[in-house]
This record gives sequence, structure tokens and C-alpha cells, in this order.
Amino acid sequence: MIRMALTKGRIEKDACKLLKSAGFDIENIENKDRELLIRTDDNIEVIFAKSNDVLTFIKNGIVDLGIVGKDTLDESDFTEYNELLDLNFGKCYFALASYPEYRTKKHKARKKIATKYPAVAKKYFSKKQEDVEIIKMEGSVELAPVVGLADAIVDIVETGSTLKANGLEVIEKISDVSTRLISNKVSLKYHSEEIYNIVDKLYEKLKG
Ligand code: PRP
Repeated sequence: MIRMALTKGRIEKDACKLLKSAGFDIENIENKDRELLIRTDDNIEVIFAKSNDVLTFIKNGIVDLGIVGKDTLDESDFTEYNELLDLNFGKCYFALASYPEYRTKKHKARKKIATKYPAVAKKYFSKKQEDVEIIKMEGSVELAPVVGLADAIVDIVETGSTLKANGLEVIEKISDVSTRLISNKVSLKYHSEEIYNIVDKLYEKLKG
């Protein structure tokens, strides 16, 4: 039995589609109601969790595999996992975004940057050797420049429509994001055959 933690929401839907098309029997998942732990007929137990909790389950050895966005991995200081596959969905990118004037405006000494991803933002600006004030937000980050809370934001951009709707644009792309299959390091050592069976099936499907 392999236990897998799956990020709830958008990732969950795409991951289920992929698992099904790769030949896994996910009928029990499709028929689930509000249960958070489902056992499939393929000897995989799936738990549904918030993205950061997927990492917590991996970190504590509760699950063998996790399906989680690269954005969550990049933001976390936990690095003791193996990244096994890029699942090629949930594609978006991290970007610095603001009003077009941001490029030419004379900024005060310490720009204010609003973000849901302070670690990613901090790393980006320290690479540039820029000292900025990072303001942590929980969502609707695009509001920050609009209402004057920040000069710019570091956020994920998918279609770009939220930026556009708020008069903002990408100032600089930071890095690509997509959904990844990760494993607990110990699990990979002791259950490598079962894990690689799953990886191989997914890889074959992804390769098309
Ligand atoms: C994400 C992100 C942007 C938006 C980007 O937010 O933080 O706001 O999606 O998508 P787009 O480029 O297709 O417009 P999410 O929908 O997760 O909600 P949140 O703002 O509450 O975090």
C-alpha cells in the first residue's frame, strides 16, 4: 500500500484526470463525498490536503508520495524530498508585477513588495542585491499596488487576466511553476518498486 497526499482544488482535478488516463482505478475517488482519505482498488491510499500540509505529511513520513505545486515547494524551507516527475499541469509562473510606470519611476530607497510568497520574493530581490520591504498577504495580492499598500507584487500569473483587470502587468518573469510528484526520501528507499511502478505509468502517459 502506497499513500499519496494530493493538493485539494485545481491540482486535485487535474491529478485525478492524469491518474485515470494513466490506468489507475480511481473510481472510489470519483465517487467520494467529503471523505479526506480514500483507498483505491490499486492499493493506493489518497489523502486530500492543502498544499503546505502535503509537505507536512511528506516531512513527517505520513505519506510516501505527494502531488503539489512547484510554487509551494519553492516557498518552503523543507527540501528533504525527491522530485520524481513534472506532471506538466497547473502551469503558471512567478512574476514581479506592477503598473507600467514601475519601470521608469524614481522609487524610494526601500520598495514595498506584497506577496503570498515571501521566501520566493526575498530570494528574487536578494539575487538582485535589492533591499525591499516584504509585505505578506493571504490572497488578492493584486490589490496591494491598486490601493497603495505596495509598489509591486510577486505572485503567480497564469492567464494574466487578474493583472490586466487591475491595470497591472508583468515587470519581470521570475520562474516557471507546474505540478510535481514528490516522494518522501525514506519511502523511496524502502518502497522503490511500488513507487517506480506508479512513476513509470505516469511517465508513459505524460510522454504521450
Ligand atoms: C492566483 C494568483 C493570482 C491569479 C493569477 O490567485 O495569486 O491572483 O491566481 O491567475 P491569472 O493570471 O489567470 O489571472 P488565486 O486564484 O489562487 O486566488 P487568491 O488571489 O485568493 O490567492
